[in-house]
Amino acid sequence: MTASPKTAPGPRGHFLIGNLLAFRRDVLGLLVDSQRDFGDVVRFHLGPMVIHLVSHPDYIKQVLVTHQHLYNKDTRSSSKIVGITGPGLLTSNGDAWLRQRRLMQPVFNAQRLLAYTDLIVAATDRMLDGWQARADARRPIDVASEMTRLTCGIIARVLLGADLSADIDDVERSTTIVMEHTWRRLQRIIDPPLWLPTPANSRFRAAKRRLDEIVFRLIAERRGGPPKNDLLALLLKARDDGAGGTGGGMSEEQLHNETITLLLAGHETTANALSWTWYLLACHPHWRQNTHDEVIGLLGQRPLTAEDLPRLDLVPRVFQEAMRLYPPIWIMERNVLESDVIGGYHIPAGSALEISPFVTHRHPAFWANPERFDPDRFTTQGNASRQPYAYLPFGGGQRLCIGSHLAMLEAQVIVARVLQRFRLELVPGCVVAPMPGITLRLRHALLMTVHSALA
Ligand code: HEM
Repeated sequence: MTASPKTAPGPRGHFLIGNLLAFRRDVLGLLVDSQRDFGDVVRFHLGPMVIHLVSHPDYIKQVLVTHQHLYNKDTRSSSKIVGITGPGLLTSNGDAWLRQRRLMQPVFNAQRLLAYTDLIVAATDRMLDGWQARADARRPIDVASEMTRLTCGIIARVLLGADLSADIDDVERSTTIVMEHTWRRLQRIIDPPLWLPTPANSRFRAAKRRLDEIVFRLIAERRGGPPKNDLLALLLKARDDGAGGTGGGMSEEQLHNETITLLLAGHETTANALSWTWYLLACHPHWRQNTHDEVIGLLGQRPLTAEDLPRLDLVPRVFQEAMRLYPPIWIMERNVLESDVIGGYHIPAGSALEISPFVTHRHPAFWANPERFDPDRFTTQGNASRQPYAYLPFGGGQRLCIGSHLAMLEAQVIVARVLQRFRLELVPGCVVAPMPGITLRLRHALLMTVHSALA
């Protein structure tokens, strides 16, 4: 006879609001400690909501792959993110999701993306030319902001064939406002609707309007311009043909939603991971020097080309290790459609389920000395011996990140190019701490001084 599933253990909370205050106070600490204290399935309450955190790689595989039909993304977080992007690839489910995913997948093919290597080098060089003056004047830069602007410019060029430089301040500011407001909404049990004229809602709506205007303009400009061979061309064709993959074309609104989804999902994440990479390299000069030596040994001062990529070894490993410690998507949410049993515990239908790469990437059973920065974890041997789903910065299963190859390409090109020209040092006293939100940002500006790498 099999034992009937038990209720998972978890931290005690307030009888009315459950664990809400602990979530708000330090959600990363709470989740990491809960995995250590209660195990691989932990039950929380946020007001009336029941939430399970699942941290063991085998259980994660169950949710994302083997039992994926029992879960979907009709979640509370999706319902708030829709306020920014409208329904799109990131948040939709079922046939609507599959149709869009099939339509867009070819654009993100790893081989095809290599053609953008020179474009990424050129964008990085433009940024670095600006750094030279800062280096000469010994004035620090906010590396997090620089990475955001760089990756935003790149995604606009790669996917939309657009030059965003005139709008980049607006996009950076507006993205921060909409993301932070959305995260605050997610932390409330009772969330006033967006149409209420509160000051925060008004700021959100103005920022969202600005992003919408920019995206509508980019689409309109392309409609009138010469044909190109990028994501927007594909989406426009699907719109105009009414093809859309399996019949039923895309509406004008869908076209807009997918464009804004990719613009936002495609730069914040990569920028955050790069910012953490520069911070970690500055804290570990020995790894910085080795990575620099690899790049100079391979390239000297010449720009990297697509053919060089397979010969980079430490550069991708450093970036992977930065995403282990600070995964940009630090939490992924699922709605439980039908009840399931995970690790002997009952997971009720209608509850929420969380997978946190931040927690699983620190799981002591799968990572020795988990807080230590050690890119050697990602050698060929390290990768082969790792438990599947112990490392999942890009998620897993059918909802795996569509942009993972683009992110890895950008990261390698940018890290190599910056190391060729500059050494970054943290400004003494600069406080660095993670700030969990829709993505894992840095809480404060990442102030660093730039020094010529040749000096
Ligand atoms: C280091 C950079 C990146 C990280 C760490 C990252 C991480 C992730 C993760 C974990 C998911 C799965 C979420 C879930 O299952 O709930 C995801 C989905 C997604 N990502 Fe990324 N991402 C990155 C870069 C990008 C880029 C460059 C793009 C687009 C150009 C992109 C577009 C998307 C989209 C559209 C989805 C939804 C896919 C679907 O559900 O079919 N991401 N990403």
